[in-house]
Order: sequence, then C-alpha cells, then structure tokens
Amino acid sequence: MTSRPDPRSLLQDLDLDKQQLLDLLTLAAQLKRDKQHGDELPRLRGKNIVLVFEKNSTRTRCSFEVAAYDQGGQVTYLGPEWSHLGREESVADTARVLGRMFDCIALRGHAQDTLEQFAEHAGVPVWNALTDVWHPTQSLADVLTMTEHHGGDVEDIAFCFTGDGHSNIARSLLVTGALLGMDVRVAAPAGLQPPPDVVAAAEAAARSSGARLMVTDDLYPAVRGADFVYTDVWVSMGEPDDAWAARVRSLLPYRVTDDVPNASNRFGVRFMHCLPAIHNRGTVIGASLHQQFGLDGAEVAEEVFESKRSIVFGQAENRMHTIKALLVRALAE
Ligand code: CP
Ligand code: NVA
Repeated sequence: MTSRPDPRSLLQDLDLDKQQLLDLLTLAAQLKRDKQHGDELPRLRGKNIVLVFEKNSTRTRCSFEVAAYDQGGQVTYLGPEWSHLGREESVADTARVLGRMFDCIALRGHAQDTLEQFAEHAGVPVWNALTDVWHPTQSLADVLTMTEHHGGDVEDIAFCFTGDGHSNIARSLLVTGALLGMDVRVAAPAGLQPPPDVVAAAEAAARSSGARLMVTDDLYPAVRGADFVYTDVWVSMGEPDDAWAARVRSLLPYRVTDDVPNASNRFGVRFMHCLPAIHNRGTVIGASLHQQFGLDGAEVAEEVFESKRSIVFGQAENRMHTIKALLVRALAE
C-alpha cells in the first residue's frame, strides 16, 4: 500500500515555495547565530533520525549528524551496503521498517525514484540528501552563503554556474534561484545543459518570482555582472570513470581560471563550489587526470580555489546550519 509523502518531506527543490525557502534561510541564519553565541536550545530531544546513504559523503552526512546532535537528537547512519536496501529487501519494505523506528529519514541515492518510493512508504518526512538529479539541501546552503556575502536582497543576487549543467547541483541551483527571483545563468556545452523539463520548471517559477534566467553555451556573456561564479565536478558520483575523457574535452572551456571571475567585472565577485573539488593533483582523481590529460586540477584552477575570492569552506559550513533549519522546522515540538 502506498500513501502520499509526509508534507514535511523535501524530495526536490520544487517542493518548497519562495516563502518557505525564505523562512528556512531566516531560521538557518538564526540557528547559526545561536550556535556562535552559545545560545542554542535543544529542540530535537527524543527525535531519532536515520541517514541512508547509497553514495559516499563528507559534508552532508556530517551536517545532518552535527545538526541533530547540537539540537539533542539521535542519529543512525547506514552507509553504502550497510543495510539490506534493494538487495535482500525492497525499497518499500525498508522504508516501512525505518518509518516505524525513526522520526525522519535522509536518503542519499542514485535514482530519484528510490527516494520517491521511500517517501511514499515511510510515513515520516523524507529528505533528499542528494540523488543523481537533485541536491536541494546544497542549494539552500548556497543561497544562505550568497546572502551573507552579498548584503542586498536575494532578488538582487546574480550568479553564474559554469561546467556540467546537467548535474544535480546545476539543476537545483537553477530551480531554487528561479523560485527566489534571482538572476541565474548556467553556462554549459550543448550536451551538458539542464534538461528541458528542468528549464521549463525554472521558467514557470520565474514567471511568478521575476527571476532572470539564462542557459547558454557562451560562458563569458553569462558571467558578466555575476556576483558569484559557481562550478561542480565534471564527473559526478555514480558516473563511470571512462566518462572523464569526453567531459575533459567538452568542459575545459568552462573551467574556472582567474579569467572567469575577472570577466564578471563585479567588485567582490566570489567563487563557489559544492565540494569535493578537483583543484590540483593532490587526490587520486586529480593525479589520474594529470597522468591521463596533463591537467593540474579540473573544474577549477588552484589559483581561484585558494584565492581570497573563494568562499567554499563557509559554504560547506552552511550545509550544517541549513540542514539544522530543515530538521528544526520539521521536527521541533
Ligand atoms: N557537497 C556535498 O554534498 O558534499 P558531500 O558529498 O561530502 O556530502
Ligand atoms: N555533482 C556532484 C555533487 C557532489 C556534492 C555529485 O553528484 O557527485
């Protein structure tokens, strides 16, 4: 038997409207200040949260855990291959079991359909902790980070995503930016742009929010006037290693070197990345890209990643504050 997802669920960015997004951002900023001032109240005492992760994670897992513990909640982590999910037990059965034990579920998975099945069967709120097609808790943190650095109204912020525009990150940023009425540009080669249904959803949101949207293969016009330049890895988790050769060929013109933020012509332009980033040879993938293609870093050059313009670690911290806002909004008594 299936049922409707709990309305507190977050399966994709489009599940939130503009006011809900703004309320979450306000709550996250408040919770961040409370923690910094030592004023945090434990509003999740007695709440049990399970994290079901089919893919690796550093930021998202730790954000859910620290957020929950800060608020007095309890967390169970089920990592890739740690449970029976999908192998010995169906998604629906696993969701029904976990829904009997936990107050909410965060799922990091491959297929969006797995997440939707969880939400149908669990009977408790289910949150998308990243799927192949959406990463809504990331875009929430990204907008909080932009508002902290911009200082103006969210509608005044312009950002340019460059690189794999087909990725979960680009899709979530496009839709969330559209919902919030922002100036959103996505620069990506023709074969790697956000899919038409996502662009159509963003355009529909933009009609009521007043967002300005641009999806183009022409990076330099897209970056002009942008307050933030954003990129993501060129090959995402779950994609095959042999995708790299074609991605390097098509995405090299979209790599963030100093020329890209310089072209924005904005004083105070900042660089953003969801992380993890390939910005030098210091990882297994970075070393392999150097060996295979002579690259020193991929989607972003070291000169930008390590520059004063880079706000990537503040962005990573904000994952925790925004995820805490989601948990508190859904579960606090
Ligand atoms: N940005 C992000 O989701 O990072 P993790 O994969 O480390 O969770
Ligand atoms: N597009 C990346 C985002 C990682 C946070 C991936 O899915 O691997």
